[in-house]
Amino acid sequence: MDIILLGPPGAGKGTQAQRLVDRRGMVQLSTGDMLRAAVKAGTPVGLKAKAVMEAGELVSDAIVSALIGEHLDQSAGKGAIFDGFPRTQHQAEALDILLGERGRALSHVIELGVDEEALVERITGRFTCATCSAPYHDRFKPTKVEGTCDVCGGHEFKRRPDDNEQTVRTRMAEYRAKTAPILPYYEERGLVSRVDGMASVEEVAAQIDRILDSAR
Ligand code: AP5
Repeated sequence: MDIILLGPPGAGKGTQAQRLVDRRGMVQLSTGDMLRAAVKAGTPVGLKAKAVMEAGELVSDAIVSALIGEHLDQSAGKGAIFDGFPRTQHQAEALDILLGERGRALSHVIELGVDEEALVERITGRFTCATCSAPYHDRFKPTKVEGTCDVCGGHEFKRRPDDNEQTVRTRMAEYRAKTAPILPYYEERGLVSRVDGMASVEEVAAQIDRILDSAR
């Protein structure tokens, strides 16, 4: 089963993808994570992507489609969760070709419906442990002891450079202008289901489970 989680920044795509990895053994393919890894490693792709990501704009279709092509076979036989990809019509068409070449096809596109203002708070408050990557949030999920990771006891934390309010608003504008318009491409094929992304993490997960378990 190959699925897309679609929604604006902070909608919960990464959170729900991780749950599907843990519970169903699917493989998360996040172009954001791939790009951040490339930036950290200082690869040619990372050098090109860094400033674009920090501005909240979209990295080129050619770069992200190539990244997905490189990683897609990791999900063979397990099912892929596309998280943050596709983000443009060109990427959507590239994904169909990449899957088709492997005799695969999308089974679901799940749109996380959200309130953008609430998302700004969700994103600007999030941080992770620099040692074990455990996720936290200033308001919704602070550490039990201030300055100490609940999981590994580490004392260093990090925030994404693109998680400031100005960049988040640019990322949302990019979503409205370039990503939301690809929905009809999938609606025509009867692939789209919507969930309430403002519900609790558990409730969103339950809605997604119902969709994936329903016979199409
Ligand atoms: P990317 O990494 O994909 O970021 P994004 O789409 O902006 O999404 P986020 O990771 O910010 O949010 P999310 O929906 O995964 O939410 P999360 O689960 O983390 O992309 C970053 C950049 O890379 C882009 O701006 C672009 O430059 C580039 N890029 C990436 N892919 C590209 C592509 N295909 N084409 C071109 N450029 C590309 O949750 C957010 C917070 O909310 C967390 O704190 C979480 O704990 C909390 N939360 C989640 N669900 C809930 C809930 N139900 N209730 C309460 N809190 C919740």
